[in-house]
Amino acid sequence: MNLYVISGVAGMTGNELARQILNGNKGAIIGFDNFFCSSMDTIADIAENENFDFFQYDINSAAQMAEIQYLVNRKKSDFDKVYYINCAAVVHTEYFYHVNTTYDTNVNGMRVFLQQAIAVGADAYINCSTSEVYSMQSFAEGGVKESDFLLMANAEHSQRTSYATGKLLTEFFMKDAVDNGLIKGCSIRFANVYSKNERFAKHILPHIVTSLTETGKVVLLENSKKNKRTFLHNNDSCASVLRLLETPQALDGTVYNVATDEEISIIDLVYLIGEKLGIGKPEIIFEGYRESDPERRVLNTEKIRSRTGWKPEISLSEGIDMIIQYRKENNK
Ligand SMILES: NC(=O)c1ccc[n+]([C@@H]2O[C@H](COP(=O)([O-])OP(=O)(O)OC[C@H]3O[C@@H](n4cnc5c(N)ncnc54)[C@H](O)[C@@H]3O)[C@@H](O)[C@H]2O)c1
Repeated sequence: MNLYVISGVAGMTGNELARQILNGNKGAIIGFDNFFCSSMDTIADIAENENFDFFQYDINSAAQMAEIQYLVNRKKSDFDKVYYINCAAVVHTEYFYHVNTTYDTNVNGMRVFLQQAIAVGADAYINCSTSEVYSMQSFAEGGVKESDFLLMANAEHSQRTSYATGKLLTEFFMKDAVDNGLIKGCSIRFANVYSKNERFAKHILPHIVTSLTETGKVVLLENSKKNKRTFLHNNDSCASVLRLLETPQALDGTVYNVATDEEISIIDLVYLIGEKLGIGKPEIIFEGYRESDPERRVLNTEKIRSRTGWKPEISLSEGIDMIIQYRKENNK
């Protein structure tokens, strides 16, 4: 049995990760979240589990983080391994432009949590980074690789890149800690993760499903006339975290792309969802434009596949069916 210490545990990645750990009898969890972008609802089904200790805590509160550290130190001898997984972050598109909160939580919070993991003698630390770091060069033949050089938009172009820049810095903290023999771990660059019950209405999948269900049409940014994306189901993103933790030789401080290679244009995505909702070819209205938004983002995932055997299991079509089914069952 292992002890998993998870920040941002009520978020889309954290709550599914907690479910996979508890349902798979992998161990116990100490998790916290300040509900910046989530609520008790997302963990309601696991909140009473005796192996889940939840705290409404903020990663930026030194006193609250000291309490988590105290608890881990008190419990750790009951477990084989102690793993830290950092999911707390100011994530969504709207907040990408909030430079100060992005820095406090995503960069400083990640570093404080890493220092705690090292101080308690944790076996590994997983740093959730992002495919946003590929910024303006997020497509290459066969997908962009972890080792590719980056061409980033900067403050001359858009404050949006502050999110990616902050996450990139966390990858350096992770590498430095491993290179200095302080802990094992790695960073993961996720691309466009979604879930059946995603709460953030402005994200593209919930936005399209909600708009088509309620009005039969959808408003998209002008960028969507050209943009293509891949989408990764959160069951698969969380499985990659657990697979990496189970592969100690992969925890070498480096970066792993985690994505699917099932690319679809945003327009075809609308038509696919429309077809599944029985709407036929829905009306699309184009309004607004987003600076520094790459037309394509395709990641090469050979590194994680060959080192850990992970691969995505849920196709986009199955994932959309899961969203529609969930909404029907829950009257959303
Ligand atoms: N969703 C994606 O497409 C995607 C893509 C790339 C990377 N990521 C990364 O994966 C990780 C998890 O993202 P997610 O999709 O689960 O996002 P999410 O917003 O659903 O979850 C993040 C959680 O962190 C919590 N949080 C925010 N500030 C906090 C603070 N100060 N203290 C404690 N908790 C705080 C939020 O309330 C939320 O529950 C993040 O590091 C994110 O940057 C996500």
